[in-house]
Amino acid sequence: MFNALLATKDEDQHSVAVTQIDKGALAESGVLIKVDYSTINYKDALAVTATAPIIRKYPLVPGIDLAGVIEESDDPDWQVGDRVGVNGWGMGESHSGGLAQYARVPASFLVKLPKNISTRHAMAIGTAGYTAALCVDALEAQGVTPDHGDILVTGASGGVGSVAVALLAARGFSVAASTGKPDAADYLKNLGATSIIDRNTLSEAGKPLQAEQWAGVVDAVGGNTLANACAQTRYGGVVTACGLAESAALPATVMPFILRGVVLRGVDSVMAPSGPRLAAWARLARDMDLERLETMITEIGLSDVNGVAPDVLAGKVTGRLLVDVNR
Ligand SMILES: NC(=O)c1ccc[n+]([C@@H]2O[C@H](COP(=O)([O-])OP(=O)(O)OC[C@H]3O[C@@H](n4cnc5c(N)ncnc54)[C@H](OP(=O)(O)O)[C@@H]3O)[C@@H](O)[C@H]2O)c1
Repeated sequence: MFNALLATKDEDQHSVAVTQIDKGALAESGVLIKVDYSTINYKDALAVTATAPIIRKYPLVPGIDLAGVIEESDDPDWQVGDRVGVNGWGMGESHSGGLAQYARVPASFLVKLPKNISTRHAMAIGTAGYTAALCVDALEAQGVTPDHGDILVTGASGGVGSVAVALLAARGFSVAASTGKPDAADYLKNLGATSIIDRNTLSEAGKPLQAEQWAGVVDAVGGNTLANACAQTRYGGVVTACGLAESAALPATVMPFILRGVVLRGVDSVMAPSGPRLAAWARLARDMDLERLETMITEIGLSDVNGVAPDVLAGKVTGRLLVDVNR
């Protein structure tokens, strides 16, 4: 028996509680992982609070991320003792996830952790940080370089935003961090932001074309902010869109795309194939300053998850929520 956060549904009533479950309650086949750490991403907060229908079947262990050590393997490519991480692939949605002391997942879900990234740091990064890396990969793949101009990061004090700021700064980009938290300015500057923007200046409906400011954008919030970011992007610039913390709407016009050749590039982490996944983790292993990463971490236990999830949805959390599943 081991501890898991278990989501159950009783007569349409969703609830989540720390529960003792048996390994037999996990998937029938796959690699058994002794989990060291998981994390709370925005999507996990949606799942735990049932604010959105993230959980597709009950009972289910939530948690779209985990990092730990293989205890049993049914795949010759993966050995007992390998340090691994899993991000997405429907974990915490249709497949029991990382908020437990054990998980069993198909070998195809696994990423071998880079040598210099501990299981703790892998989950401090989590899906949020790996998605930030996918966004920076996309900007660079489209040819954006530091001499093209500044990069805007929205939702900057959140998980995606914090890691994006640090990764971009490590590559020599000048980063404008948009945040709703005035007291996060020092935190963001320590991560490498060169300027701080009040997010209220981006969240109201704006003109279809505005003064050209950004060579690139990492947007974690959507809505008017994403529309304004596109309208402020310089000729030939690239906007990566990965989130909806403000809104799933995109109240924009085609003007930035047809008059300035702006590229709007969607970024998905959940089903990203192994090539981009491994490239993103290689970037994180190379560019993520571990001292900066430490400044992002708030560590909690399984029994704290229900309490913090509403704060995540309210945008109150700065940085990353790391879950020690064994505490
Ligand atoms: N596409 C993918 O595969 C993928 C992967 C990971 C995450 N996501 C999405 O990316 C978004 C961010 O994820 P996360 O893990 O970084 O979440 P998070 O840690 O909760 O951060 C979200 C941040 O967005 C800002 N924010 C919150 N409410 C807002 C509002 N009403 N208007 C504008 N900004 C608001 C806040 O930052 P400030 O106070 O600094 O503004 C908040 O800290 C979420 O929507 C998540 O679902 C998508």
